Amino acid sequence: MPATDSPNDRLLLNASTLLESERQLYLNLHPASQQLAQQASQHFLYGVPMHWMNDWGTPAPLFVRHAQGAHFTCADGLDYADFCLGDTGAMFGHSPEPVARALERQARRGYTTMLPDMVAAEVGAALAEQFGMPCWQLTTTATDANRFVLRWARAVTGRKKLLVFDGCYHGTVDDTMVDVEAGRTVSRASLLGQTVDLGLYTVAVDFNDLAAIERELASGDFACLLTEPALTNCGMVPALPGFIAGLRELTRRHGTLLVLDETHTISSARGGWSRNAGIQPDFMVIGKPIAGGLPAAAYGFSEELAARMKSAKDAAPAGHSGIGTTLSGNMMTLAAMHATLTEVATSAAYAHMLELASSLENGLNAVLQKHSLPWCITRIGARLELQFCATAPVNAKEARIAQHDELESAIHLFLLNRGVLLTPFHNMMLVCPATSDTDIAKLLRVFGECLTTLIYSSEANVPS
Ligand SMILES: Cc1ncc(COP(=O)(O)O)c(C=O)c1O
Repeated sequence: MPATDSPNDRLLLNASTLLESERQLYLNLHPASQQLAQQASQHFLYGVPMHWMNDWGTPAPLFVRHAQGAHFTCADGLDYADFCLGDTGAMFGHSPEPVARALERQARRGYTTMLPDMVAAEVGAALAEQFGMPCWQLTTTATDANRFVLRWARAVTGRKKLLVFDGCYHGTVDDTMVDVEAGRTVSRASLLGQTVDLGLYTVAVDFNDLAAIERELASGDFACLLTEPALTNCGMVPALPGFIAGLRELTRRHGTLLVLDETHTISSARGGWSRNAGIQPDFMVIGKPIAGGLPAAAYGFSEELAARMKSAKDAAPAGHSGIGTTLSGNMMTLAAMHATLTEVATSAAYAHMLELASSLENGLNAVLQKHSLPWCITRIGARLELQFCATAPVNAKEARIAQHDELESAIHLFLLNRGVLLTPFHNMMLVCPATSDTDIAKLLRVFGECLTTLIYSSEANVPS
C-alpha cells in the first residue's frame, strides 16, 4: 500500500499491527478464560456452547462470571461496561430486578406444562398496550416468530413468494438466507447443509428502492414483504424519509402482507419503530429483550388477519400446522415477559436510554471530528452504529463497501482489553436503563485512545 499522510489511511495501515498486539494483551489479561476455554473444548465443538460465541475476534473466548445492569465480570474478575448487551437480548439490562423477582416467585410454581399460565391474559394485554397490535402468538425465538409468520402469510394469501431486502437478517430462517448475485437472488454461499434453491420463492431487492419493490409486487405472486424498519444486520441502513410508508402503500395495493421485524428496532422507542412512526404493519415480530433476556419472542397481527388465520387453519386437513414449538409460552417465560413489559420496558426507562444514547452519539461525533475521520454514527433510539463512511449507507451494497474487518476487530479488541464491550458483528453499541454517564465517558475515552493509537503509532496503549 502506498505511504500517505491521511489519518484514515495511516489508521488502516496500523490496524493489523494493533490487532496483533491487542491479541497478545488479551492473552496476558485473561488466563482464567483461557483455562476454561481449554476445558470446554474437550466436549463442546469449538470449545463453546454455540459456535457464534467464538465470533468475537478474541484469541480465546471470554468467559462470564456475573452480569448485572450495564456491566459484567469475566472469569478473570475484570469489569466491563457492556454496550453489546447480548446483541439486544439484554437491552433492558442484565437481570433487571422486577424480572429477577418474578423468576424467583415462579421458580417453585412450575416451568412448563404446555397449558396457559393464569398470567397469560395479562401478558397478551400488555403486548397489545405496548405495541398497538390487538392479537398475538408467542414463540421461543425471533427466528421462530419470523418462520411462523411466513407460514401464516402463505396460508392466508395462497401465494408462495417472499420479498426481502439484500443484506437482510431475520434469524436463521431458511427462506430469508439469500444474496443477490448478478441481479439474481440465490442461496447464501456460506449456508451449511442447504439443499433447496432459496431463490425459487424468495426475491431480494435493494433497501430504499421503491421502484424495484413495485416492479416485483406487480406480479401479484408475493405472500409478504418481510423487513426491519431499518436494516441493522449489515451495518445500519436507515430508511429514507417516506420509504416505509411507501412499502405500506405498495403492499396494500398489491395484496401482499407487510411484516415488520422489530427484533432490533424495539430500541427505537417504547412500542417499537412502527408504532411511533404511525405505520401499521400486517404482522409485527418482536423478540430478544421482551422477557428480560430469557428465550422468548412474539408476533402481533390485526383482528382481520386473525380471522383469516383461523379460516386457513379450519380449512386445512387435521394434523401438524408446522407452527409452534413445545416450550413456547412456558410459565417461566410468561412470568419474565409480564415483569419486563409492565415494570421494565417503561416510558421512563426508554427516556433514560434515548437521552444517554443521544449523548453517546454527540460524544462519538466529537471524537471523530477531533481526529478528522470521515466516518459516521447512525442511531436508532438506544442503538448506535459507527460506520467507516461519511454518511449512512442507503443499501447493503454501500454498507458492505464501508466495512473493514481488520480495523473493526482492532477497535473491538482494544476496547475490550480496557473494559468496554461492543457487539462482535460490526460496530454496534446499545445502551440500557442501567447505563450511566460514567459508562458513556469510559467508552468515549477509550475509543479516543484507540484512534490516537491507530493514527499516531502502531504500539498499543497498554493499560496500567
Ligand atoms: C432483525 C432480527 N430478526 C430476528 C433475529 C433472530 O433472533 P434470534 O436469534 O433470537 O432468533 C435477529 C437476530 O439477530 C434479528 O436481528
